[in-house]
Amino acid sequence: MQRLWGGNASALSTAADLLRRGELVAIPTETVYGLAAHACNESAVRSIFTVKGRPLIDPLIVHFASLDQISEECEISPTTQKLTDAFWPGPLTLVLPRKSGGSIPQLVSAGKSSLAVRVPGHPLFRQLLKDSRLPLAAPSANPFGYISPTRPEHVEASLNAGVAAVLDGGQCEHGVESTIIEVCDDQSVRLLRPGPIAIEEVLRLPGIREASARQEDESLPVAPGMLKSHYRPAKGIELFPLGKPPKSITARDAIVHLMRPSIAPENHFWLSESGNHSEIAHNLFHLLRQLDTTQTFDRVYVETPEVSSGIIRAVRDRLERAATPPD
Ligand code: TXA
Ligand code: MG
Repeated sequence: MQRLWGGNASALSTAADLLRRGELVAIPTETVYGLAAHACNESAVRSIFTVKGRPLIDPLIVHFASLDQISEECEISPTTQKLTDAFWPGPLTLVLPRKSGGSIPQLVSAGKSSLAVRVPGHPLFRQLLKDSRLPLAAPSANPFGYISPTRPEHVEASLNAGVAAVLDGGQCEHGVESTIIEVCDDQSVRLLRPGPIAIEEVLRLPGIREASARQEDESLPVAPGMLKSHYRPAKGIELFPLGKPPKSITARDAIVHLMRPSIAPENHFWLSESGNHSEIAHNLFHLLRQLDTTQTFDRVYVETPEVSSGIIRAVRDRLERAATPPD
């Protein structure tokens, strides 16, 4: 996998050429790094699933330069228009009804009648989408089930064969994946995955209302990636309540605090100096990866936030999934 430095003038045209030829390129976004392929090239899309070890029933998000391009693939309702006016470009993914006659193959959306779409805000990725004019299918650039990458070296460490290049845009701003909202047939909205944009912000828009809770059995095929066990480090993690780290620990146990503790022995770490929520999210996956790959620790304990709104809700969601062993 070659590294293309985003500051280099030729990096974007090299990335676009590779994508046009059906190769996979890892790209920076404002949330996490994505593993991109030309969304209309079925064999390139298939390689995404192979490289990640991702089941074919788990649909992908397609990224576009503008809403205009999306209107060729999906139905755009007044509700959708309100959401996109308010939050795009940005870390919000919308699940919209597919139109017939579009050019994105069924494989991308795992045969569903809806398609997940996003106009991202990251300047490099936006420029790539604009210059290439390609719709880019991109899941997070990690092996299926593992922690998402927030730096180019994370992509290089956990994916290799089958990825032509990684476009280096430094560390991702938000550090957790986009908020996913489904726009339902009756124009209500449903939160499928918490992320940087809080559902409270979405519901504050005039005329936007929340859908009733989904029935248990209905929830199964909606988002297979929203499995109870996901984003999981190889060592696993254990959670502890705010301010109550486990008492009997050894030097082989790492303790992760949300903010800098007053006394911090060598095996104690923190996600933010002051407990700032955006900073906690920004640093989360990098620290979890570092602790997962070091030989120094056998076990990792992470403090669970009490707040469950805004971006910290996404942090809690990812921690709870990371702490759940697979079935
Ligand atoms: O921030 C992000 O969203 C990153 C960057 C690269 O954009 N992408 C990302 O993709 O997190 P991925 O594939 O790791 O997560 C997308 C989630 C999956 O859980 C998938 O099941 C769900 O979106 N999804 C995709 N299409 C869907 C659809 N039509 N209906 C319901 N869920 C869908
Ligand atoms: Mg993912």
